[in-house]
Amino acid sequence: MKNILIAYYSRTGNTEKMAEYIAEGVRFSGNNAEIKKLSEIKSEKNLDGYDGYVFGCPTYHRDMTENMKTFLFLAEKANLEGKVGGAFGAYTHSGDAPKYIFDTMQHVFKMDMTQLGSLLLEEKIIGLSEGLRTCQDYGKVLGEKLK
Ligand SMILES: Cc1cc2nc3c(=O)[nH]c(=O)nc-3n(C[C@H](O)[C@H](O)[C@H](O)COP(=O)(O)O)c2cc1C
Repeated sequence: MKNILIAYYSRTGNTEKMAEYIAEGVRFSGNNAEIKKLSEIKSEKNLDGYDGYVFGCPTYHRDMTENMKTFLFLAEKANLEGKVGGAFGAYTHSGDAPKYIFDTMQHVFKMDMTQLGSLLLEEKIIGLSEGLRTCQDYGKVLGEKLK
């Protein structure tokens, strides 16, 4: 069994729900998923020991949030090269943040990113069965990539 860390920020709870559903999908694949808020990650050492990483952030003002930018500078020090990766987040109309995070993980950290790309979910579907299933499927594909 391998381990995936799901690290996220959520202001109003939508991206948090996505994190929980993605974790379920990882577990369906027979792997372990640990969920952490960005505020719980104090140093790059907190990123040690995982086989895969999924970072989540909602889009505000057509951007990722400042704490996610700070977190990515911390993650840069963790040597994530070759590790499995994905990115996700809730949005209403533009959904930029997960795409930028995914890009950084791919091109700067040189991680082995999921072929699914980043997972953007419109906030109105997160509470529906379609939202749940889409997140679970994303987690399952990430888990299967660990083998
Ligand atoms: C002030 C403000 C600015 C926002 N800007 C954007 C935006 O530029 N693009 C977008 O797609 N959604 C935008 N949103 C919508 C949020 O991304 C959406 O509500 C999301 O579900 C919040 O996720 P969270 O509950 O994880 O914080 C904005 C929301 C607020 C309140």
